[in-house]
Amino acid sequence: MMASNPAILPGDVAREIIAPESYAAWDPLLDTFDHLRDTMPVAKVVAEDDVFEPFWLITRYDDVMRISKDNKTFLNNPKPVVFATREATEFARAATGSNMLVDSLVVFDAPIHPKYRKLTQDWFMPRNLKLIEGEIRALADKLVQAMIDAGPDVDFVKHVAAPMPLHVIMQILGIPEEDEPRMLMLTQQMFGGQDADLSGSGMENMTPEQVLELVSGAVKNFEEYFAGIAAERRANPTDDVASVIANATVDGEPLPDRDMAGYYIIMAAAGHDTTSATMSGAMLALARDPEQFARVQADRSLLPGLVEEAIRWTTAVQHFMRTAAQDVEIGGQQIKKGDWLMLNYVAANHDPAQFEQARSFDASRSPNRHMAFGAGAHQCLGLHLARLQIRILFEALLDRIDSVELAGDPVRSSSTFVGGLKTLPLRFASQ
Ligand code: HEM
Repeated sequence: MMASNPAILPGDVAREIIAPESYAAWDPLLDTFDHLRDTMPVAKVVAEDDVFEPFWLITRYDDVMRISKDNKTFLNNPKPVVFATREATEFARAATGSNMLVDSLVVFDAPIHPKYRKLTQDWFMPRNLKLIEGEIRALADKLVQAMIDAGPDVDFVKHVAAPMPLHVIMQILGIPEEDEPRMLMLTQQMFGGQDADLSGSGMENMTPEQVLELVSGAVKNFEEYFAGIAAERRANPTDDVASVIANATVDGEPLPDRDMAGYYIIMAAAGHDTTSATMSGAMLALARDPEQFARVQADRSLLPGLVEEAIRWTTAVQHFMRTAAQDVEIGGQQIKKGDWLMLNYVAANHDPAQFEQARSFDASRSPNRHMAFGAGAHQCLGLHLARLQIRILFEALLDRIDSVELAGDPVRSSSTFVGGLKTLPLRFASQ
């Protein structure tokens, strides 16, 4: 494969990049990215049957970084920010009139984006998160103890990694515990379509019209639900993020219901699967490497490094898309105004030019300037919250666990967007 201009990916490689199953298989995909970085670091992906609009796949760390930081040349709004087939995009447009099912931070560009982002930015800073640290620690202690009581063989995803971040994000959005299953179901209906086990909605067996109906129903349901929460928080403000949004103004006006719902929804959706996948990723790495587990247990100063490496090694958000606002050259390829680009964070986080032994999990990796949270104006709003939860969970685990090993085969989810383990059978020895 030599890069020509334009460099168009061969059909079989293009199929691998867009197939959700490739992200479940993982290692062969990493091989493909290694090859592409060397031969076609900026490559056009064209569907033979035109099921999706062609896009440029970006695999080198430096290119992903440069595009992420240049928010004037590379926009989030004009085309979907998550890879979708033409059909799925049509669904979203028909249901909501927008490229995405809901308009939210990830869909906005300047000048709207910074105004909306500013509303909650302070709330997600470490200083404020300190206020909820105690609650997060109590939750971690409870879940880890329940897992140990259920042991010695457990599914780490089911017992700890899935419930912990879900509960944290629901709590800060002001959602009472009894409504959590409903919220989970709604987010899965809206975002979880690719993996049959996870969609929970049977979407894969539905006609396009039925999917459209289900999804627009979910959006409407969300809007009504969050309008109720907002009304409550206006009457009785608390110190959660739900109150911040409910009482926020932009250009002197309160947020319209639709934008308020979009804000809640992006946080509800972005806040749990990502963090869950990262917790499970770290546990898998340690279960395979008892020596590293013992090292971290003996020296807790390795914990921040462990957390950062878990985030890089897992790369739970596997890509975001951008649209070029003008003609621009990247990696020797001529990108035209209006072209769609895939920032592949998995590829960037395994770039050997940036990370030695990129496939190994190394809690002492330094420096570790990974791209798992993106960069530039849209860099993850919840990155401190994610780090905090993962650190607290590992403190709780290391306090109680002497050793851990695999008790079966871990299974990754089939998804091009948010990925990671959906089951992780482990055997723990506890103190
Ligand atoms: C955006 C990853 C956890 C909320 C993003 C982006 C990535 C990402 C890659 C896009 C960055 C870009 O376009 O440059 C992750 C990972 C997480 C995680 C890997 C866990 C390990 C969270 C949590 C929240 C959250 C816990 C809770 C609030 C958001 C929001 C955005 C975002 C609201 C949109 C920001 C914007 O467009 O301005 N995240 N995230 N994320 N994330 Fe996270």
